[in-house]
Amino acid sequence: MTGGDAGRAAASLISFAFRMKPFYVTTPIYYVNDLPHIGHIYSTVVCDVAARFHRLIGDPTRLLTGTDEHGQNIEKAAAAQGIAPIALADRVVARYHDLYRRFEIAHDDFIRTTEERHRRGVEAFIARIEASGDLYVARHEGWYCASCEAFYTEKEIGAERRCPVHATPCSWESEENVFFRLSRFAAPLLTHYEKHPDFVRPESRLAEAVSFVRAGLNDLSVSRSKVKWGIPFPGHPGHVVYVWLDALANYITALGFGSRDDHPYREFWEPPEGRRVHLIGKDILRFHAVYWPAFLLSAGLPLPTTVWAHGWWLRDAKKMSKSVGNVVRPDALVEAFGPEALRFFLMREMAFGQDASFSDEAFLTRYNADLANDLGNTFSRVAALCRQSFGGVPPERGSDGEVKAVFEAVEPEWRTAMEEFAFNRALDAVWKLLTEINGFVVAREPWRVRKEEGASARLSGILYAAAEGVRAVATMLSPFLPATSRRIREAFGDRRMEGGPGDLEWGRLEPGVPMSEPPPLFPRADAGAYFAEKESAMNDNPTPPAAAPLPAPPDGRIGIEEFQKVQLRTARVLAAERVPKSNKLMRLQVDLGSEQRQIVAGIAAKYAPEALVGRHVVVVANLKPARLMGVESNGMVLAATVGESGEPSLLAVEPDVPPGSRVK
Ligand code: MSP
Repeated sequence: MTGGDAGRAAASLISFAFRMKPFYVTTPIYYVNDLPHIGHIYSTVVCDVAARFHRLIGDPTRLLTGTDEHGQNIEKAAAAQGIAPIALADRVVARYHDLYRRFEIAHDDFIRTTEERHRRGVEAFIARIEASGDLYVARHEGWYCASCEAFYTEKEIGAERRCPVHATPCSWESEENVFFRLSRFAAPLLTHYEKHPDFVRPESRLAEAVSFVRAGLNDLSVSRSKVKWGIPFPGHPGHVVYVWLDALANYITALGFGSRDDHPYREFWEPPEGRRVHLIGKDILRFHAVYWPAFLLSAGLPLPTTVWAHGWWLRDAKKMSKSVGNVVRPDALVEAFGPEALRFFLMREMAFGQDASFSDEAFLTRYNADLANDLGNTFSRVAALCRQSFGGVPPERGSDGEVKAVFEAVEPEWRTAMEEFAFNRALDAVWKLLTEINGFVVAREPWRVRKEEGASARLSGILYAAAEGVRAVATMLSPFLPATSRRIREAFGDRRMEGGPGDLEWGRLEPGVPMSEPPPLFPRADAGAYFAEKESAMNDNPTPPAAAPLPAPPDGRIGIEEFQKVQLRTARVLAAERVPKSNKLMRLQVDLGSEQRQIVAGIAAKYAPEALVGRHVVVVANLKPARLMGVESNGMVLAATVGESGEPSLLAVEPDVPPGSRVK
């Protein structure tokens, strides 16, 4: 036995003796052809909350995240910007690091698929699959979606031959590839699902995986010769590894699989009692619940214990995604309300596994009701009472047991919900305790007791129970709101960065600790002012805010495909009137040939309504609807901006051009 083996044996003995079960949780690795939006942040925050919970209860825990940097899509996105794929990846990775710092994501590792350790691991993984006889070379033809980087069957793409995920046309591709004998794994996969009903959660997603496998599995092409940006396929010059085989392997290459130092792999992937959880969006279920376990079975390696698929964040009833153009970037909300408010909203609002809609209104309602009012006010009220009465934490523990009884009832509810990724239920449990603390303080009237003679011990008991309740709330909220939890605990004299399992016991608050002025946690937001400010920002720039663009090449040029996304059409103005209370905005009804539309244009400073009726203009016809000063606008009228004041001057269109004509 080597020294390392002896050390590992000792570590596994200790872990066995104390029945500590390692917990390994991973986010999907994100593509670098898009900047992070709320959907990506959500997946990462879910994993961070789960990892923080497991660290809190004392499990050896590891959280992995990272980026998926190879493949055709990245190659194309970089080419469109005139830069090398790795330069594009570097920019986007920097953005992820910056966001993760702000959101306090406590990841243990961040893997990039362009790293050397990953390439080594992928090669070792493929070598094992090859040794099992599961690879062969053949010609491959089929309907291909370049965005998914996947082939689809005729049935899946329907008569229109459109990708079932992106609804874009699929193309017929033909090339010689290395194939993986996926068909061999249908029976073993079905047996595995049956024996491990927790392998895919929620249940509805397991059913989806089962029916996909039951429908029959075709062998999978796992090399590409047309794509250059990838890991060279071992033994097949000119081919790169299929991007999904490359990407999925990250979950073990990041642990050191295939490298000399594979200690994390042994600690987190091998132990039979360990939990290996992949958190994914439901869009990538097939890859994780079918392909990945089949690769692992072929390689003779342990399988993940659970693939947890969450639902989508929707905007206007559609999945938020770059290709649809309806994404919400986190920046404005974080700027206005801080990252913790967004962490909280994402975890509170989405019932894990189901879809949820994102709206500013829902965000503000939750912020004010749950954070500013329930949490913030309860904390500041209890802290103020403690300070006024005793200058700090009350000197004696009392016999007032209701808060304790409620804590002892909700703590197991919270714990079970956290184990099951039912985060909104876990938060409900914490809120029961908060409500109890509030009711308790109101019923016991400590402000009155304070005035009674000889009631100091009773007062101390009441306030101790309330303060201890708030501390317990802060502990249970620490996976969700790490910074807020720290601030609350600090106010009660606890200066540790993170808590531990003992913090989940009642009575941990030290009596008699002096307290400083408690910090305001979540100042109430004025929803009216927030929306007015947002609207006025739009009013200054009547173009609805576009999705934040990827960093542009230095001279700002774009590819023709990007320009072609903009539909320019001619239109005739049918009616015009000024938007009340605005100097700039004019409400127009225009004839677009096939339809009539309302458009709000920032041209009222120069044109009188009468001068506009009958005029032919150029409009952007495929802009998402936006509200300007409360008026809905379905497009944008093009105008030149003249001089320093930027006075608008409409573009001329010959009057004989029929409305609706395409401009290119
Ligand atoms: N690179 C692949 C994953 C490889 S994992 C081995 C990929 N990347 S992605 O950037 O397109 O999306 C990754 C994940 O982001 C999704 O699986 C999902 O977890 C999250 N989301 C992206 N858009 C989302 C929503 N609108 N809503 C919720 N989450 C979504 O797929």
